[in-house]
Amino acid sequence: MLTRFVAPSLMLASVFLSGCGGGGDSAEKKLKIGFAQVGAESVWRTANTDSMQREAAKRGVDFKFSSGEGKQENQIRAIRSFVAQGVDLIILSPIVETGWDPVLKEAKRAGIPVLLMDREIETSDESLYAAFIGSDFVEEGRLAARWMVENVKGDNVKIVELEGTPGSAPAIDRQTGFREIVDKHSNFKIIESQSANFRRSDGKDLMESLLKLHSEIDVVYAHNDDMALGAIQAIEAAGLKPGKDIVIISIDAIKEAFEAVVAGKINCIVECTPLFGPLAFDMAEKILNGEPYERRVVMKDKVFDQTNAAAAIDSRMY
Ligand code: AHR
Repeated sequence: MLTRFVAPSLMLASVFLSGCGGGGDSAEKKLKIGFAQVGAESVWRTANTDSMQREAAKRGVDFKFSSGEGKQENQIRAIRSFVAQGVDLIILSPIVETGWDPVLKEAKRAGIPVLLMDREIETSDESLYAAFIGSDFVEEGRLAARWMVENVKGDNVKIVELEGTPGSAPAIDRQTGFREIVDKHSNFKIIESQSANFRRSDGKDLMESLLKLHSEIDVVYAHNDDMALGAIQAIEAAGLKPGKDIVIISIDAIKEAFEAVVAGKINCIVECTPLFGPLAFDMAEKILNGEPYERRVVMKDKVFDQTNAAAAIDSRMY
């Protein structure tokens, strides 16, 4: 659906030019954008920050970056500060799904559109944000599970799930999509499901304790590659072979995970692109210029395993 965001104060502003490199005459207004980022919990996240910062610099945007360090209250504070600074638009990658309405109402009252990037929110009022760009996390969970049911054989396959940040859209949705498929196959059973916060060190610690608790683990399903790579360290330290003794499936498709697939230590990775910079700023300019834009833009994610990872590895950008 094509949408126009109407913020009267912004419609009066001069037209924002894309690709202008920051120079320009006095008729041009330098775009001021605030970005409330989640933090730096994973390689995916730092690639996302990098993509946004590069694109902002390329376009000469006055870019105000704030890292939430994994805490919602930090992101709420950042949004308030962007409003106080009179930014033209706010980009938000929300740590968790709920609890955003009050601060988004403040941005709306100030006539500042909010673009959700990467993660969606639960809200009673869809008009509190102008648009969303990101992946379909439920589908990513389904893709991971479909690969598993097609490729892992056995009467009683025991799965441990390493979850992302509690309350975050990717943790909730990747679990939902995965379970939707697993529930249709009685030979697959999730025996543990715990959070490792999308962090490599937490993935390693959690896997260490799960290996002590369970003598038989057939599959690790990790909500991101960093947790899978941490789990691999724990599996190897326990004298087992990741990718052979235990099947490893994860999401993101960072370069290191590709290398692990090629080395036979990860069996399947589901792509989730962090490279939103160009798209996010194109969208921001359309919103601010009152041009039509798609309110919900969803990326197409691919699946990689031993059959196609080697051929793709050199072209990977994150
Ligand atoms: O929201 C995207 C997720 O957040 C990525 O899968 C994960 O690596 C990141 O921390």
